[in-house]
Amino acid sequence: MYSGHPMGLFPSSKDAPRVVVTNGMVIPNYSSPDDLERFNALGVSQYGQMTAGSFMYIGPQGIVHGTTITVMNAFRKVLAKGESPAGKIFLTAGLGGMSGAQPKAGNIAGCITICAEVNPNAATKRHEQGWVDVLIDNMDDLIARVRNAKEQSEVVSIAYIGNVVEIWERFFEEDIYIHLGSDQTSLHNPWSGGYYPIGLSYDDSNTLLRDDPSAFKDEVQKTLRRHAIAVNKHNASGTYFFDYGNAFLLECSRAGADVMADNGIDFKYQSYVQDILGPMCFDYGFGPFRWVCASGKSDDLDKTDEIAVGVLQTIMENSPKEIQLQMQDNITWIKDAKQNKLVVGSQARILYADAEGRMKIAQAFNDAVAEGQIGPVVLGRDHHDVSGTDSPYRETSNIYDGSKFTADMAIHNVIGDSFRGATWVSIHNGGGVGWGEVINGGFGMLLDGSAEAESKLNNMLFYDVNNGIARRSWARNEEAIFAIKREMERTPGLKVTLANIVDDNIFENI
Ligand SMILES: NC(=O)c1ccc[n+]([C@@H]2O[C@H](COP(=O)([O-])OP(=O)(O)OC[C@H]3O[C@@H](n4cnc5c(N)ncnc54)[C@H](O)[C@@H]3O)[C@@H](O)[C@H]2O)c1
Repeated sequence: MYSGHPMGLFPSSKDAPRVVVTNGMVIPNYSSPDDLERFNALGVSQYGQMTAGSFMYIGPQGIVHGTTITVMNAFRKVLAKGESPAGKIFLTAGLGGMSGAQPKAGNIAGCITICAEVNPNAATKRHEQGWVDVLIDNMDDLIARVRNAKEQSEVVSIAYIGNVVEIWERFFEEDIYIHLGSDQTSLHNPWSGGYYPIGLSYDDSNTLLRDDPSAFKDEVQKTLRRHAIAVNKHNASGTYFFDYGNAFLLECSRAGADVMADNGIDFKYQSYVQDILGPMCFDYGFGPFRWVCASGKSDDLDKTDEIAVGVLQTIMENSPKEIQLQMQDNITWIKDAKQNKLVVGSQARILYADAEGRMKIAQAFNDAVAEGQIGPVVLGRDHHDVSGTDSPYRETSNIYDGSKFTADMAIHNVIGDSFRGATWVSIHNGGGVGWGEVINGGFGMLLDGSAEAESKLNNMLFYDVNNGIARRSWARNEEAIFAIKREMERTPGLKVTLANIVDDNIFENI
C-alpha cells in the first residue's frame, strides 16, 4: 500500500508479511506542511496517521487507557502517598475524536474532571453517549457545581460548553485550586479549526475561519498567549501542568506565549512523556499492547481478559520493585475493563505490558486458540509506544542526547518486525503531532494457534519492545539501562552496546 494506493500483489514467501503499508513517506527536504497539501491534492501522498494508517485502530479505548495511566501517575506526583484524587480537579479541553476519552479516564482515575469544549454538538454527543457525567453551559453554574464536588470529595466528570481559557482565567479569580491541568485541543492543526479563539462563538469562529483565515490565525495566537498567562498563574500556586502530546507548548511558543524555560531552549512545562510515561513506562518497555478477537465474539474477549490477568499476576509475583506499580495498575485496568464498557466495534482490548508480559500473554492466547477455547486473535499495538515511533515532542521527548530528532529507531523497528514474523507492517510520516513531526510504525500479527505463530510471536514481540529499550538505554536513560541489562541477563543471544557514562565534571573541566 503506497499512501492509500493498493500498488499490487507481489509473489513472496510464506514467512513474509502479507501487507506492507507506507503513508506520507516523502524526501525530507520536501516534507513541509505546504508540500503535504500539494501532494495530498495531487493524490500522490496522504497524511500518515498512527493506528488508523496501520489498520490497528480500536476506537477511543487506547486513549482512555493512556490517559488513565497518565492522570493516575500525575496525581501520584502531586499528592501525598495514599492521598485520594477524589475531590481534586483535573482541568483540560477537547471532547473530540480522541480527547472525548478524557472524562472517562478521569472517572477511572477517581478525580473531578472538567473538560471544556467549544463545539456544543460535540459536548452534547459525548454527554449522550455516556462519556461525561454532567453537561454545563454557564460559568456560574460550573463554579457552583465544582465547589460542591470539591466539598463532597466527588468523582465526577463535567463538560463545559465554552472556551477552556475562560475556565483557566475565571478559576484564578475565584481562587479555585486546580491540581492537574492539560489540554487536548487539536493544536497539531491550529489554523483550520483545531483550536478555537476566545470571545467568539463556535459558529462565528468558523465564519471568520472561512472568510478571513489570517484574522482567524491572529485570534488563535492571541488566545494561546492568554491561555499560557492563565496557566502560568495557576502553576505559580502549585498546579501541575503537562502537555498531552497535542503540540500545545509548541504552538504557544510559536505564538510568542510565555512558555519557554530560562535556558530559552526547553519549555517551562514537561510533556506527559518526559515526566510520566517515558521514565515510568516506555523506558522499562511498558507500552500499549493490544489485541482483537477475530471471531467478533464478546465471550472471546472476556476469555482473553481472564487469560491476561492470570499471566500478569503470575509475572508480578517475581517482578522487580521498579515495575510493580505498572504491573498492578494494568492488572486493575484489565479486571475493570469490561465494566468500563470500552469496546466500540471490534472486540478489542489494550493494556500496558513489557516484553515479557506481551510475549507471555500472546503465548497463552495462542495456546487457547489451539485448544479451541477462543477463535483466532490479532495482536498489535498503539504507535504511542516504546519502539515504533520517533516523535521529538511526544513519544521520544524524554531522550536528551540529541537523538530525539532522528528516526532510525522507527525504521529499524518496521524492518526488524517484518522479517521476524509480523503479518503486516506499516510506517508513516505524520500522525498525531503532524506531518513532518513524526515517523511512526506498527504491525499486526495473527495468532492462529499454530506452532509457527508461537515462534513468530516470541521472535517478533521480543524485538519489537527491546529495540526501543536499547535505543533509550544508549541515550543514557537510567530506567532503560536497568531494563536492557536485565533483558541481557536472561536472554543469552542478546548483546546491546551499553553507554560508558562520563562524569559531568570531566566535561566541565575540559
Ligand atoms: N497524547 C495522546 O496519546 C494523544 C492521542 C491522540 C490524540 N492526541 C492529540 O490530541 C489532540 C486532539 O485529538 P482529537 O482527535 O480529540 O481532535 P478533535 O479535533 O476531534 O478534538 C479536539 C476538540 O477540541 C475542541 N476545542 C478546540 N479549541 C478549543 C478551545 N479553545 N476550548 C475548548 N475546546 C476546544 C474542538 O472543538 C474539538 O472538538 C490532537 O492534537 C491529537 O494529535 C494525543
